[in-house]
Amino acid sequence: MEIKIFCPATIANLNCGFDIMGLCLENIGDEMIFRKSVTKGVQITKITGANLPYEVTKNVAGVAALALLNTVENNFGIEIEIHKKIRAGSGIGSSSASAAGAVFGVNELLGKPLSRNQLVDFAMKGEAIASGSEHADNVAPCLLGGFTLVRGYNPLDVIKIASPSELYAVVLHPHIEVKTADARAVLEPTVPFKNAITQTGNLGGLIAGLFTNDYELIGRSLNDVLVEPFRKQLIPYFDDVKIAAIQSGALGAGISGAGPSIFALCKGENLAKEVAKAMQNSYSRTNIPFDFYISKVN
Ligand code: HSE
Repeated sequence: MEIKIFCPATIANLNCGFDIMGLCLENIGDEMIFRKSVTKGVQITKITGANLPYEVTKNVAGVAALALLNTVENNFGIEIEIHKKIRAGSGIGSSSASAAGAVFGVNELLGKPLSRNQLVDFAMKGEAIASGSEHADNVAPCLLGGFTLVRGYNPLDVIKIASPSELYAVVLHPHIEVKTADARAVLEPTVPFKNAITQTGNLGGLIAGLFTNDYELIGRSLNDVLVEPFRKQLIPYFDDVKIAAIQSGALGAGISGAGPSIFALCKGENLAKEVAKAMQNSYSRTNIPFDFYISKVN
């Protein structure tokens, strides 16, 4: 038995929801293939598109797959092929796609003993070896689709959030690598009370806007006073691209996950194309190569 799956890229944080909000990009992602084998345990048999370890305990997908396989009674092993399309260190959930894909595939071969929500916990174990911390804001939307909120980590409580029908995401990916661990190291361990209030207000506004299809409110809420001021220094010309996106009609823009990718949310596909053009024009003035994506958010 063999199954082939698509493992989507994701945008974490969404400005006001550091470590708790994320969304799934529908048309950007990796592929993984899973086969049952007579050899017990997990084996990674093929990797294309990235230079990743075959050793299961050092591989994000391997760790996540093993965490799940060891929990559920079974009498077979699993072989995994990983075909990477999402670049490592791009800020659109490359390691999370592998971790989430691994637990999804293993669960399918086991006969689906766990719900997608339950799988998030196992995917986080894989994600942790890549980023140095367990967070679910990429793996949750990768497994559940659309927007997700991590209401709490202890115990893990993931909630699927509504997606307005005309919402599109634009992502500009400058070809520099920002390691999540480094992007976390620049953050302050404590935040001013005033900023916590501002951030909480924006998060509430974003969730309310998503549930009520209020695009203006979504736009007003896409702000980040806790993380962006520190992290943007790691992304050359971040402010220029953000301003270009907003001036061309994006609802809001910010750092995708830990960066360096820069995202914008837009109402409608035509506007998303305009915004993508403006962001590209802005970055073309730099000498840093980049690529970009437009995806509907479902
Ligand atoms: N919430 C995480 C961060 C996402 O911003 O550090 C990156 O993996």
